Amino acid sequence: ETKIIHITKENIEATAKEAADVWAQGGLVAFPTETVYGLGGNGLNKEASKKIYAAKGRPSDNPLILHIADMEQFYPLIKTDNAKIIARAEALADVFWPGPLTMILPKADNIPYETTGGLDTVAIRMPSHLVARALLQECKMPIAAPSANLSGRPSPTSASHVIEDMNGRIEMIIDGGDVGIGVESTIIDLTGEVPMLLRPGFVTPEMLQQVLGTVETDAAVYRQVGKDVHPKAPGMKYRHYAPKASMVLVEGAQDKVITYINEEAKKKREQGLRIGIMATDESKELYKADVVISVGSRISMDSVAHNLFRALRDFDEENVDFIYSESFDTSGCGFAVMNRLLKAAGHQVVKL
Ligand code: TXA
Ligand code: MG
Repeated sequence: ETKIIHITKENIEATAKEAADVWAQGGLVAFPTETVYGLGGNGLNKEASKKIYAAKGRPSDNPLILHIADMEQFYPLIKTDNAKIIARAEALADVFWPGPLTMILPKADNIPYETTGGLDTVAIRMPSHLVARALLQECKMPIAAPSANLSGRPSPTSASHVIEDMNGRIEMIIDGGDVGIGVESTIIDLTGEVPMLLRPGFVTPEMLQQVLGTVETDAAVYRQVGKDVHPKAPGMKYRHYAPKASMVLVEGAQDKVITYINEEAKKKREQGLRIGIMATDESKELYKADVVISVGSRISMDSVAHNLFRALRDFDEENVDFIYSESFDTSGCGFAVMNRLLKAAGHQVVKL
């Protein structure tokens, strides 16, 4: 029922037309972006937004990001008299768009509350991926697109992940191979007095500060959402990226981490549990467990970001009961990686 198209140079134009037709009729198309695969529908059509929530099994108070092709599409989506907000958005767009940055802004009236999860603000992003751009240029509408995973599963970084989660649930899946970055876009809220980082990604706080000056970070980025921490991005309150197994992050000096994880893994295996370890290229030979997966090299946090969600899906497939994961420095992409790992682990951290 779901049409799967492998994109090539030859068919990209025809595919963009086909996707635009599906969107015009209120249907859903999954497509690659530079961050993760998106599950797209016409963002101005409330029935399409409802279909997106249904296909994902996602709570409808969790707002969607509108994807656009150019700045001409941008202005009609926002409504504000505050010149400072517009100036900040334009300055960020100049530097980071097209690219992996999402901005939260006051919404225009024609954007349905179904798309914004009932909020008066809207999330907007202009992706840089060639295929995403071709589709958005062709359809000429803002495309609402959450990550194309079932709610609670890791975001899809390849078409096979999308097929696993969405086959039979949507009209079309466009296979554009593996994505580049592998973690979702950075989200910055521009509606307040001080710009606020709601979700870390490839665009770091330092990069944002270079353009905006002061940038604050929402407490929910670091800490478990609970009594005293209320996230500004509704999506941050859900236990996203949750592997089926229970997961613990281990922090400390590298040799201590390896010794600790091996000892704990041995004990748990003696109890008959199947143990997974999230290691790195540098450490993977030093572990003994049922499943050891390297998430990349510590020399390149970009490679770790790129492999993270695939590794979490692989642990699911291996049916492990318990996962120990190394932790990472929060510089560069490490901030986004640690944010996703903490969420996957339900904030269970052992500090050595
Ligand atoms: O990289 C990405 O951003 C990917 C690709 C497909 O573009 N999309 C993505 O969408 O990650 P999703 O729906 O999985 O995550 C959107 C996040 C959620 O945490 C949501 O709560 C937040 O953006 N969000 C959306 N609109 C918002 C708003 N008006 N105010 C605050 N947070 C908002
Ligand atoms: Mg998501």
